[in-house]
Amino acid sequence: MAKLDLSTLGVRAGIARSRFNEHSEALYLTSSFVFENAAQAAERFTGGSAGLGGSAFVYSRFTNPTVSMFQDRLAALEGAEACVATASGMSAILATSMALLKAGDHVVCSNAVFGATVQLYSTILARFGIETTFVPPAKVEEWQRAVRPNTKLLFLETPSNPLGEVSDIAALAAVARRAGAVLVVDNALCTPALQRPLEFGADLIIHSATKYLDGQGRVLGGAVLGKKGPAMDAVFGFLRTAGPSLSPFNAWVILKGMETLEIRMLAQSERALELARWLEKHPKVARVYYAGLESHPQHALAMRQQRTGGALVSFDVKGGREAAWKVIDSTRLISITGNLGDVKTTITHPATTTHGRITPEARAAAGITDGLVRVAVGLEAVADLKADLSRGLG
Ligand SMILES: Cc1ncc(COP(=O)(O)O)c(C=O)c1O
Repeated sequence: MAKLDLSTLGVRAGIARSRFNEHSEALYLTSSFVFENAAQAAERFTGGSAGLGGSAFVYSRFTNPTVSMFQDRLAALEGAEACVATASGMSAILATSMALLKAGDHVVCSNAVFGATVQLYSTILARFGIETTFVPPAKVEEWQRAVRPNTKLLFLETPSNPLGEVSDIAALAAVARRAGAVLVVDNALCTPALQRPLEFGADLIIHSATKYLDGQGRVLGGAVLGKKGPAMDAVFGFLRTAGPSLSPFNAWVILKGMETLEIRMLAQSERALELARWLEKHPKVARVYYAGLESHPQHALAMRQQRTGGALVSFDVKGGREAAWKVIDSTRLISITGNLGDVKTTITHPATTTHGRITPEARAAAGITDGLVRVAVGLEAVADLKADLSRGLG
């Protein structure tokens, strides 16, 4: 078949119909699968037919038809050969790390990744003898300098949350290749609708499917994607043994969410850009952080890697924390919640929520000011969003 467009793959890829020929993807809520005889059971448990990418099913900790449809659709969208679904984005990062690292190994990680990712590397994995050096996302030379002979993994998110800093994926893939390490890119914020990191040389992709893949804030989910081979086999092996598995129900919800992924991402990005342009001109706003703006210092790089600037807009309100809280508390439409990736616009104050547990010095070093407000733009009319933010901006 001719190479299909992303929008077509979002709707069609991965469908595996049952003998009933249902049109909408089926939800297989079952823990296990029945064998015809003992010999078949033996083959399925030990043979390749129920392995990664196999078509036979054994037990839903590691094989389920609805989860397979989710994996196949996401793999098609990312241009990946293999996908392992996980219970959440964090369990995707954990599974990748447990599969690829051992005591004595070293990780280089962007210092602008999701807070729980920082905690995972700096506290939990550190207890198992894995050391992590955190570096600024955009400074390739600092990544290079941080590499050691025992560096096995480089980890980043781009653009970063909440400040929209952009990492050069191709340049960091070259750093990883020279070090004999793998480059892992968390693509939750762009999704394959806007950015396909494998095309720039990333080895593995992480998703929090909880975000834009679902798109409606309903369920948790995650995934790891990459080439077929030892790394993905090891991730699958960890999932089969340790069990941070995606529930078939959640897989089904996200699978259906992915049908509208591309049009949502484009529509939400368009609204985000319009809102960012308006905020940039607002007298009460000191600075806007959005890679889609021409004024963003890494706009050219962002536009080489991404189709749009994405749907996350952050801005510094003049007047610090009090002024930022006033903007948040004056909203009547926008939801005050930490989640993002929803069609309902959300607003949050990073300094006292997502970054509230780190020291004021670490916060300042990360560029998270007291006046910073993050808006994850959804699908409401921009005029209504502007009116909602104007109330508190004065
Ligand atoms: C970029 C990014 N990666 C990973 C995660 C973790 O995903 P989950 O909440 O699905 O575990 C999040 C969650 O907010 C995120 O924003």
